[in-house]
Amino acid sequence: MQLNNLIINHDNGIGYVTINRPDKLNALNKATILQLHEAFKYYDENELIRVIILTGKGDKAFAAGADIREFSDYNSAQAAKLSKDGQNLLFNYIENLSTPVIAAINGFALGGGLELAMSCHIRICSSNARLGLPEVSLGVIPGYGGTQRLTQLIGKGRALELITSAQMIDANKSDVWGLVNRVKPHDELISYCISLAEKINQNGPLAIASAIKAINSSCKGDVNGFEIETTEFAKCFETQDFKEGVSAFFEKRKAKFEGL
Ligand code: COA
Repeated sequence: MQLNNLIINHDNGIGYVTINRPDKLNALNKATILQLHEAFKYYDENELIRVIILTGKGDKAFAAGADIREFSDYNSAQAAKLSKDGQNLLFNYIENLSTPVIAAINGFALGGGLELAMSCHIRICSSNARLGLPEVSLGVIPGYGGTQRLTQLIGKGRALELITSAQMIDANKSDVWGLVNRVKPHDELISYCISLAEKINQNGPLAIASAIKAINSSCKGDVNGFEIETTEFAKCFETQDFKEGVSAFFEKRKAKFEGL
């Protein structure tokens, strides 16, 4: 598949995915969603890539939402399919990847754009970013998991306020509300994300995958997160990485994890 709506490259164990539709504020049309799926799948299956950084091209937007032009004349059945396909292909898919994904929010993250950022494991935002789920201003609600993930991240009261008012909030409020992990000056956003990715890269990738799975299970009603944690904890003891990590500790050296 041609990934013409994206820029992808990698370096030093970090995969970079940049949404490249700046003239449409990186709005997520169906083609872009499919291409993002392919890019994330490609990096997740490449064991040399240990962290992925996702951002939007240009200084203005991470992604300003799902592409409104594409669904403006949909009926209810088409809307249900759009929502389900999008969740399966991209939003739930990213959340459940074993490779951690950092969203570098470089500007507007609205509607599907914020839903995409919320699917990522870590959110760092630029001081000029503006975040919101303004769907009700179009007479619709978020359909890519936004009502669920926003509530998990900032709590029911604030989620209700943000969604029903359709307001955008700035970077600082996003930080205070826990919607993002950290705010950085715009020109330091990517370098900070790289330094964070490098820290993650030093740790055991299988243990990181287990941690993601266990943490995600805390938000799934149909599984017992404590049981998942025990299973994943036990799995780590079968890995070479665990032996290497413990040996390195006793030998007072840096561990060299192979993901085995
Ligand atoms: N879907 C499709 N196109 C979009 C879009 C979206 N979600 N967001 C922006 N665009 C397009 C605009 O239509 C415009 O295209 P055009 O030049 O062909 O007319 C281009 O991106 C630039 O956007 P524009 O609105 O001119 O920029 P702005 O700086 O005046 O406003 C926003 C920026 C983010 C406030 C405004 O674009 C906006 O409100 N976007 C929609 C946000 C939204 O409701 N998202 C949820 C969708 S469910």
